[in-house]
Amino acid sequence: MSLKDKIIISKLPEHIAVIMDGNGRWAREKGYERIFGHQNGVKAVRNVVEAAGDLGLKYLTLFAFSKENWCRPRSEIDALMDLMATTINSETETLIKNNIRLLIIGDRVRLPSRINGELNEVTEATKNNTGLTLVIALSYSSRWEITRATAKICEDIKAGKLKEINEEIFNSYLATSGIPDPELLIRTSGEFRISNFLLWQIAYAEMYFTKTLWPDFGKEDFYEAIISFQNRERRFGKTGEQSK
Ligand code: FPP
Repeated sequence: MSLKDKIIISKLPEHIAVIMDGNGRWAREKGYERIFGHQNGVKAVRNVVEAAGDLGLKYLTLFAFSKENWCRPRSEIDALMDLMATTINSETETLIKNNIRLLIIGDRVRLPSRINGELNEVTEATKNNTGLTLVIALSYSSRWEITRATAKICEDIKAGKLKEINEEIFNSYLATSGIPDPELLIRTSGEFRISNFLLWQIAYAEMYFTKTLWPDFGKEDFYEAIISFQNRERRFGKTGEQSK
């Protein structure tokens, strides 16, 4: 029996975010170069996107490359960029066929222009799709996003376009504007960190950490995380009695 059958579809989180970690260790354990781990990580991406689409999830955000990842060896960065460009290009048809809308969040200025070109084409080609919204965080960090939002708010106040700031207004200046906050955050590879990912947005997300390295993370692991989420009591600051 698949764990999928235990998921209560009416209680599905609207948005799941994933920190895909452990590709390098997965490859090293097998005696391969780190890039082999990233290549196999793409298979896990496919599985999770397919599972999310089949379940009818509305939003899935994947942390593919952080701003801090620019500090990695040049050879790994180049190989990762190539891998992403090839994957995004070869998956466009599948995204369209499966009614998936692709969105990118992150500081695109540092991305190679060929990657930016590919990304623009795919986001344009999928922009009217109404199924799963797949958000890829690329060259993303939460502190970058929050600082950029603050700078834009200051500009707009100075220009007289903005009169007040509240949580809703601040939210609308973030890269995730228009996207509901993740209700479940998954991190693979046994690390218990958030690594500068969606710090504002995960204020009330449920955390799910698993030792499984990302390339080994399959559909059943994804279902298990959702079942764990569905068994939590989410109180949002209220007492247990109030939230029942
Ligand atoms: C973290 O593992 C993983 C990454 C930095 C890259 C993840 C990217 C992919 C799986 C490709 C995704 C492609 C698309 C199109 C979304 P790590 O290298 O930090 O592993 P380690 O902690 O074991 O060293």
